[in-house]
Amino acid sequence: MRTYTNVKDLGGLKAAVKEALEIKKNRFAYKHLGENKTLLMVFFNSSLRTRLSTQKAGMNLGMNTMVLDINQGAWKLETERGVIMDGDKSEHILEAIPVMGSYCDIIGVRAFAQFENKEDDYNEKILNQFIQYSGRPVFSMEAATGHPLQAFADLITIEEYKKKARPKVVLTWAPHPKALPQAVPNSFADFMNEADVDFVITHPKGYELDPKFVRGTKVEYDQNKALEAADFVYAKNWAAYEEPNYGKILSKDRSWTVTTEKMGLTDTAYFMHCLPVRRNMIVSDDVIESPQSLVIPEAANREISAQTVLKRMLESL
Ligand code: CP
Repeated sequence: MRTYTNVKDLGGLKAAVKEALEIKKNRFAYKHLGENKTLLMVFFNSSLRTRLSTQKAGMNLGMNTMVLDINQGAWKLETERGVIMDGDKSEHILEAIPVMGSYCDIIGVRAFAQFENKEDDYNEKILNQFIQYSGRPVFSMEAATGHPLQAFADLITIEEYKKKARPKVVLTWAPHPKALPQAVPNSFADFMNEADVDFVITHPKGYELDPKFVRGTKVEYDQNKALEAADFVYAKNWAAYEEPNYGKILSKDRSWTVTTEKMGLTDTAYFMHCLPVRRNMIVSDDVIESPQSLVIPEAANREISAQTVLKRMLESL
């Protein structure tokens, strides 16, 4: 595996989940693969889970791991070609990327959508430059339009907890005070569309996601209706995707917050969220603290999704 940016990079999804669950049973079985190999994790944005779980996954595989926080101590990077660099940016990304590549064997990149230019975000301008210029296998640790390590961990979690062969999984928009990217819902839809689940998306009008990720999924604008008979409720906020509102907040309607009453409409569904989560905006205290909440096992599975991807990349070196 040379790149990991979307569900297709995993090949057969059933085989990938099986491999992940085997790794989970014995996470140190492949320690030899990473001997004398270095993982570089490059962060343009903050992180708790991705940083720790991916570093742990690399260590489980015997790798040396290095972390670079671009905004804390590194030179400010220019990303546009042709710019006269007489401002505050000291280094061009076109030198920085191959230099980073020269110090490591595999690179993980976190670079969120900036909501300044939809085309730049949806062309994955930063991530794709790492793929093009680093000379190394590159995986997304949440880029502008996707968070495939999260979605893979979500799928592993659903596989572990499902009580029926084809569970109903509902992705619901929920309110948030800040404009958030569409990366998590995009990747969740990307994965659920390939998984053996009955997948439904619900959100207020105006929050339609990129059709590339939604594909044939049923979109139900009535949240209560969508939640009926759900086995898994996956809550997430995102800002508007469609122009002219790209990156904007259109609603903070707290009637979309996932509460005990809302969960009562489901078939005793499990609650999921990628974290970090704003309590009593996205989800009530009661729901996130309930026995049906999977947020902690879901986060723990980030180590397993990252380890499966890193193992495959190490095997292809
Ligand atoms: N879910 C997730 O990616 O968490 P972090 O932003 O803390 O890494």
